[in-house]
Amino acid sequence: MGMGSITIVQKISFFLFLLACIKNVSSQPVVFNVMNFGAKADGKTDDAKVILRAWTQACRSVAQSTVLIPHGTYLAGPILMNGPCKNKITFQLDGTVKAPSDMFGKTDWVLFKYINGLTVSGNGTFDGQGALAWSQNQCSKKEKGGKCTFPISLRLNFVTDATITGISSIDSKIAHMNIFASNNIKLQNIKISAPAKSLNTNGIHISASGGVHISDSAIATGDDCVSIITGSKNVQITGVTCGPGHGISIGSMGKSKQFETVAGVTVKNCTFTDTDNGVRIKTWPAGSAGSVSNLTFEDIIMDNVKNPIVIDQEYCPYKLCNKQAPSRIKISDVAFKNIRGTSATKEVLTLKCGMPCEGVELSDINLRYNGTDGPATSICSNVNLILARNVFPPTCTI
Ligand SMILES: *[C@@H]1O[C@H](CO)[C@@H](O)[C@H](O)[C@H]1NC(C)=O
Ligand SMILES: *[C@@H]1O[C@H](CO)[C@@H](O)[C@H](O)[C@H]1NC(C)=O
Ligand SMILES: *[C@@H]1O[C@H](CO)[C@@H](O)[C@H](O)[C@H]1NC(C)=O
Ligand SMILES: *[C@@H]1O[C@H](CO)[C@@H](O)[C@H](O)[C@H]1NC(C)=O
Repeated sequence: MGMGSITIVQKISFFLFLLACIKNVSSQPVVFNVMNFGAKADGKTDDAKVILRAWTQACRSVAQSTVLIPHGTYLAGPILMNGPCKNKITFQLDGTVKAPSDMFGKTDWVLFKYINGLTVSGNGTFDGQGALAWSQNQCSKKEKGGKCTFPISLRLNFVTDATITGISSIDSKIAHMNIFASNNIKLQNIKISAPAKSLNTNGIHISASGGVHISDSAIATGDDCVSIITGSKNVQITGVTCGPGHGISIGSMGKSKQFETVAGVTVKNCTFTDTDNGVRIKTWPAGSAGSVSNLTFEDIIMDNVKNPIVIDQEYCPYKLCNKQAPSRIKISDVAFKNIRGTSATKEVLTLKCGMPCEGVELSDINLRYNGTDGPATSICSNVNLILARNVFPPTCTI
C-alpha cells in the first residue's frame, strides 16, 4: 500500500482519536502536583513558594486544573493564591499543611482571592499550629495596643461559586475560616477543631457575603462555631454539630460607624454540645444603626449548653462600652422552633432587645435545667412576640 492511500478505516480511527482527545481536555482537569514542582514535604522546609508556583501554573491553564497536595506533611508560610484564573480550579488537599508557629503580625495564611469557580477538597488538613498564638493573644486589650494580629487559617476573599469539602482545619491561630465579599459558597463535610480554651478561634466567620451554605460539618473550637456579621445575606447552616465553642452567632453588630445589616439566616438540624451559647444574636449598645431580619432557628438540640437561646442587645465583652444608650440595630422576624435539650445554667432563654425586636416567634421550646440553683428562667425585655406555643420554661407573653 502506497503512502498516499490512507484507508477509510484509518481516517475514521484518527477522527475518533481526535474526538477522544477533545473530550479529555474538556472533562479531565490538568493536574499540577506540587511534588513535580519540588515540594519537600518533610515538615521542615517551607514549601509555600513551591505550592504557589503550582497554583500560578494551574491558574493560567486554559483547561480546568487541579493543584494537588498529595499525602505528606508540608510546612508552609503564607500561601496567597490570587485569581482570576482562566478556568475552574480545584485545590486538592490530601496532605497536611502546617503553618509556622510564629506568624505574629500577619493577617493571612492560606488565602484564595478573586476566583470564580473554586473547589477545595480532599481529606487533608490545614494545621494552624496555634498554641504559641493563643499564649500571646491579647485581643481583650486590643484597644490598649494588645497583641491581636494573627493569620486566619483559610480565607476566601472575593470568591464566587466555591465548594469547600472534606478537608479539616485544626488549631488555627485565630479564626479557622473567613468568608468575605464572596457569593454562592458551599461548605460541606468539613471538620474544624481547636481546644475549648484557645482564644478567638472562631470556626467560620462570614461577612459581606451572600448565599453561603454550611452543611454536615463538625465544629469544635474556642470561640463562635459560626459567626455572621454585616453585609451577609441568605446564609444556611444545616446538619452542623457545634461544641465546644461559643455557639452560632449573628454579630456582633453595631460597633462600627456604618449602617450594618444581616438578612436571611437559617440554622436547622444542628446540635450544640457543652457550648457557652447555643443560638445568639449580639449587638453593641450605643453603636451604629442597622438591621437583622428573617432568621429561623429550627430543629435544634442543646446538650448541656450554658445559654441556649440568646438575643443580647447589650453585648459588651471586656466591658468596653457605654451601656447607657441602647443598641440601634433593629431586629425583626426571628423564629425559634423545635429547640430542645438541656441547659448548663438556669439562664435558658434570654431575649434582651433594645428597639424593640419585632415579629419574634417561639414554638416547641423545651429546655431543662436541673441544677440546685434552679428552676430554669427566661428573660424577655422589649420583645414583640407574635407567637408563643409550647414553650418551656414559660416565657414572656404576647
Ligand atoms: C485520602 O484521599 C486519598 C486520595 O483520594 C486516598 O488515596 C486516601 O486513601 C485517603 N485517605 C483517607 C485516610 O481517607
Ligand atoms: C441532621 O444532621 C445530621 C448531622 O448532624 C445528619 O447526619 C442528618 O442526616 C441530618 N438530618 C436531616 C433530616 O437533614
Ligand atoms: C429569608 O431567608 C432565607 C434564607 O435563610 C431565604 O431563603 C428567604 O428567601 C428569605 N426570605 C425573605 C422574605 O427575604
Ligand atoms: C441533670 O441531673 C443529672 C443527675 O441527676 C446529671 O447527670 C445531669 O448532668 C444533669 N443535667 C443538667 C443539664 O444539669
